[in-house]
Amino acid sequence: MTTKNIPNHVGLIMDGNGRWATAKGRERTYGHYMGYKRLKKTATHILNKGVKILSVFAFSTENFQRPKEEVDYLMDLFLTSFKKEIKYFVQNNVKVVFSGRKEPLSDTVYDSMKELEMETISCDGGILNICLNYGGQAEIVDASKLIAESFKNGKIKLEDITVESFYNYLYNELPAIDLLIRTSGELRLSNFMLYSISYSELYFTNTCFPDFDEKEFDEALESYQNRNITKGTIKQK
Ligand code: IPE
Ligand code: IPE
Ligand code: MG
Repeated sequence: MTTKNIPNHVGLIMDGNGRWATAKGRERTYGHYMGYKRLKKTATHILNKGVKILSVFAFSTENFQRPKEEVDYLMDLFLTSFKKEIKYFVQNNVKVVFSGRKEPLSDTVYDSMKELEMETISCDGGILNICLNYGGQAEIVDASKLIAESFKNGKIKLEDITVESFYNYLYNELPAIDLLIRTSGELRLSNFMLYSISYSELYFTNTCFPDFDEKEFDEALESYQNRNITKGTIKQK
């Protein structure tokens, strides 16, 4: 029996929490809470399938422009769930990392992110990369600054800067995304991991994130496995 092609790195834009809740006559925040519950189950399923890295979009830099009550709710949800789930991730051997800028996150939220990273640092059963206060263009700019710094200090030469080596300056030095999924029917990238998705297979579903369960992921995986994947001629990390 041949093992089917499992993507090494999956990206997931978890969209539609608000609309999911509104359709049920509930507050948008209820959708965020149910999205968090869903992520725990679906992420475990995806990593158990043999995917090595799962990058999820939890909060974009632009999301700070939402109404204060919604932002406050989300920050509180992050803080409590990161603390609460340390045990869960350690038990499931999942290493959690975060991508994004620090400012303007509060110290308490940032500390809970660092704590979750530290507590799961030795886990080797898969990586969950949570993009929080994240922007794809900002990641490229921040990587460019690191490269400029290394060049200035004489650590690297101009010819060391290549498409492949650029990945080493991204927030978590993760390789290219093989399969990118966006839920809730929106057909855009919203500034998600722009450098890493240059040759990703794209999968869009109308299902809102709180309903994106194990079966829904398996359908995305099946679609991926039935494609003719060339990855073009660009050398990926
Ligand atoms: C995604 O769901 C979660 C976050 C952006 C934090 P949305 O909150 O964008 O839900 P919709 O798209 O408005 O339904
Ligand atoms: C993208 O969703 C960010 C997250 C899923 C966290 P948005 O709902 O914020 O994206 P836009 O504003 O519709 O493009
Ligand atoms: Mg949305």
